[in-house]
Amino acid sequence: MTTQPRHFIDLPDIDPQVIKGIVQNAHRLKAKKFCPPQLFSGLSLAMVFDKRSTRTRMSFEVAMKQLGGHTIPMTMAEMQITGSESVEDTANVLSRYVDAVMIRMSDHDTLLNLAEHASIPVINGLTDHSHPCQIIADIVTIEEKRGDIQGKKIAWFGDYNNVARTFEHAGKIFDFELTLAVPEEQHANALSPEDAAKDADVIVTDTWVSMGEEGKGTEKFAPFKVTMDTMAHAKDDALFMHCMPIHRGYEVCDDVLQSKHCVIYDEAENRLHAQKAILAWCLGESGVKIQQHSFDL
Ligand code: CP
Ligand code: NVA
Repeated sequence: MTTQPRHFIDLPDIDPQVIKGIVQNAHRLKAKKFCPPQLFSGLSLAMVFDKRSTRTRMSFEVAMKQLGGHTIPMTMAEMQITGSESVEDTANVLSRYVDAVMIRMSDHDTLLNLAEHASIPVINGLTDHSHPCQIIADIVTIEEKRGDIQGKKIAWFGDYNNVARTFEHAGKIFDFELTLAVPEEQHANALSPEDAAKDADVIVTDTWVSMGEEGKGTEKFAPFKVTMDTMAHAKDDALFMHCMPIHRGYEVCDDVLQSKHCVIYDEAENRLHAQKAILAWCLGESGVKIQQHSFDL
């Protein structure tokens, strides 16, 4: 009997206890930079990009290398899949070389198709549908600043996009409240900015123009720009978060970014710790095991 690879593609498709365990391991891994030592020794991660990236590319690469593994980054344009090679053949061949593949691409169905034909774990590094690696890092950030995320109020501002949708997925697993200050045509539960932000623990936003949407109109998002007035509706110690890259003066004002609320660089750093924990779970079938005593060096 062959075991199914541990794909990390969409949070609702993974056992909630596994996802909670990944968050806990990310907290532990943050405390110890090179620990457990050589956890990924001899293991290789292919990183395939069909879109730009700074954080995802860097954090996966450093995560593998700090724990003794290797990475092979490629753009899709460099691969035969951009010519005539099928997704199925690409998945089968990659599975013979590397231990896991992380992919960033627009079309979610293509990523699912690739995963279906892969015998190694496939990690979703962002599609137009979702960005689960980001949300693991965001939960780690909220918990390290404010404790258990259960029962917290997170207010999403701006465009209802791939990151917003993944926050919705996470809300059901971690039992936090997610309010949406987005144009009403984007979501049945859209609220006014004031109602969404009221007494929130976290205000979070993202670009109004995701990769691949260049040229789309942004006027409808203007009422959902995050300003110090927005923050005033939230709790006094509310966090401001953004997955980055930021477009200052559009989705968020400079004074919010310079305020005590802003935790964007901790959030970006936590991508590194989150990637380690995600990889450790995905590579579990390759013999990687994290146990509490692994951290007691
Ligand atoms: N937040 C995020 O995924 O950043 P990159 O696009 O730089 O990877
Ligand atoms: N919503 C953004 C996130 C970038 C990390 C995008 O898809 O471009």
